[in-house]
Amino acid sequence: MKVTFKIQRYNPEKDQKPYFADYTLDGLDGTYRILDALHDIKWQLDGTLTFRRSCAHGMCGSDGIRINGKNSLACSVLLKDVNTKKPIVIEPLPYLPIIKDLTVDMADFFKKYEMVKPYLIAHDSPPETERYQSYEDAERLMESTKCIMCACCTTSCPSLWSNENYIGPAAILKSYRFAFDTRDDSADEHLLAVDSQDGIWRCHTIFNCVEACPKDINITWHISQLKKLLVSQEI
Ligand code: SF4
Ligand code: F3S
Ligand code: FES
Repeated sequence: MKVTFKIQRYNPEKDQKPYFADYTLDGLDGTYRILDALHDIKWQLDGTLTFRRSCAHGMCGSDGIRINGKNSLACSVLLKDVNTKKPIVIEPLPYLPIIKDLTVDMADFFKKYEMVKPYLIAHDSPPETERYQSYEDAERLMESTKCIMCACCTTSCPSLWSNENYIGPAAILKSYRFAFDTRDDSADEHLLAVDSQDGIWRCHTIFNCVEACPKDINITWHISQLKKLLVSQEI
């Protein structure tokens, strides 16, 4: 089939503002991915097209973009998943500053991630082998550990769009991942930035984050568990 891709372009060194350019590719089938289209357009039609990607298999989180108005990974969306009768609209993730074309500046996203101290804090001496935990304890964390830090959730959240200081769902999910880890001694350190004016209480249960997550993580459920923990004052 023949498909047209309407891609937002923007080179801050020469463009006054972003604009859309159309590219048409032929001979495609339903298993062709949006990332394949970006590669073919760059390699065959316009070498200046700029985007980020690494693993090409839904593991690294580097190719979050907006496809027909929905945040997704370019490598995980197939042509059979989208309407190909109209041009497929491809834009950078919303909210974050554009560096060039589909590449955004992730500095704010990672700054907020670092605020929750996203690492295990244990005050005892390291054991001779690994730190063990029960299957039940590990299972409680399992879903949250699937996060690949793609920013699809955080950049789709209207609470962030209206308040740039909101820490966002990805950072809150990471706080859950360590606050509920039974091998960690310092839940309060992971929750400090979350239990604040611009933290978890800015989440108004809008669910855009869940819709956007390419790893099918129920982020809102994890946020609700953290809210319960914070009001219970059991930390
Ligand atoms: Fe991406 Fe999902 Fe992690 Fe958010 S929670 S950063 S959408 S993988
Ligand atoms: Fe935003 Fe998700 Fe909460 S979209 S408001 S973080 S439920
Ligand atoms: Fe790594 Fe898509 S390129 S997740």
